[in-house]
Amino acid sequence: MKYTIAVIPGDGIGPEVVDQAKKALDAVAEAYDHIFLYKEALLGACAIEKTGYPLPQETIDICRNSDAILYGAIGDPKYDNDPSARIRPEQGLLQLRKELDLYCNVRPVKAYDNLIHNSPLKREVIKGTDFLVYRELTGGIYFGKKEVSADGKMASDVSVYTVDEITRITHLAFKAAQKRKKKVTLVDESNVLETSRLWRKTVTEIAKEYPEITLEYLFVANATMQLITNPKQFDVILTENLFGDIISDEASVISGSKGLIASSSIGEENALFEPIHGSYFEAKGKDLANPLASILSAGMLLQHLGLNEEADAIERAVEKSLALGITTKDIKRKIQNATTTSKVGDFIADYITNQDDSN
Ligand code: IPM
Ligand code: MN
Repeated sequence: MKYTIAVIPGDGIGPEVVDQAKKALDAVAEAYDHIFLYKEALLGACAIEKTGYPLPQETIDICRNSDAILYGAIGDPKYDNDPSARIRPEQGLLQLRKELDLYCNVRPVKAYDNLIHNSPLKREVIKGTDFLVYRELTGGIYFGKKEVSADGKMASDVSVYTVDEITRITHLAFKAAQKRKKKVTLVDESNVLETSRLWRKTVTEIAKEYPEITLEYLFVANATMQLITNPKQFDVILTENLFGDIISDEASVISGSKGLIASSSIGEENALFEPIHGSYFEAKGKDLANPLASILSAGMLLQHLGLNEEADAIERAVEKSLALGITTKDIKRKIQNATTTSKVGDFIADYITNQDDSN
């Protein structure tokens, strides 16, 4: 089959990790007889530099007309350190999520057996951990009205949710749990926030349609603790935009590196796949960033296209690279043994190709 993939390398290490994901996709294309047609687009700081806008219209068009979007990373420290900057790279990504209505963000977290030593958490606490974070991505405080008073002494961000916004991701989270350990944990702050109370009411109502699923509730502050003291209890975590951002970064500690967490952002018409890590500018062009989150994102992309065997091949190759220790320095105890971004990508691509030869 032929698929059109919008490729957005983005900022910092984005281009180099996306290159490795493309190597993996090319190996899949060859082994399984597909054609992936890449259409490159600009987003973020690099787009501001070239066009003046973080999200040029052309990027929206390329993304809309794709079967899937592969994205690298966003951000440039020069904007982070300038609170008065009016145009920011991140606005581009947020606008793209909104424009394409990519409301359901899924972030798989697991403790890889070969990497358990790499986490600062105790082996017995994390071994066997395997859960999904379902983060609502187009609502909440990220998208509510933002204001700064004329004298600059007051600022506000408003958090808004509607029942419809909560409902659509809740169904997806429950459907995911049906295929897993049949448990959904709603993370909210319903003792304080009206939006959280609306989440709790709506999700509790919807849960009645899924009697085989156990629904649990956790306040977000408690959830941050439970994530590192007893992460094995989780199967599917369902939560709003801001809480999902925070707890998914925290959860990456379980896997041993933020460079390992992939994500999908799904809407009715389009879907985008990206690592949860940022642009890691200090490492830009140095061939040392971990490409596995980007490669695993390509795996999620294949799954989304219904290419499950192909997605499994990527996952197996990643497991193998971890087992053999062909990894970048973020997941190496001894830095001198670490390999480069591109060598990890080469290994993954070769493994996919040779695996197919042996079939
Ligand atoms: C993420 C990122 C983004 C977010 C930023 C870059 C806007 O941290 O995808 O997790 O907060 O959603
Ligand atoms: Mn984040």
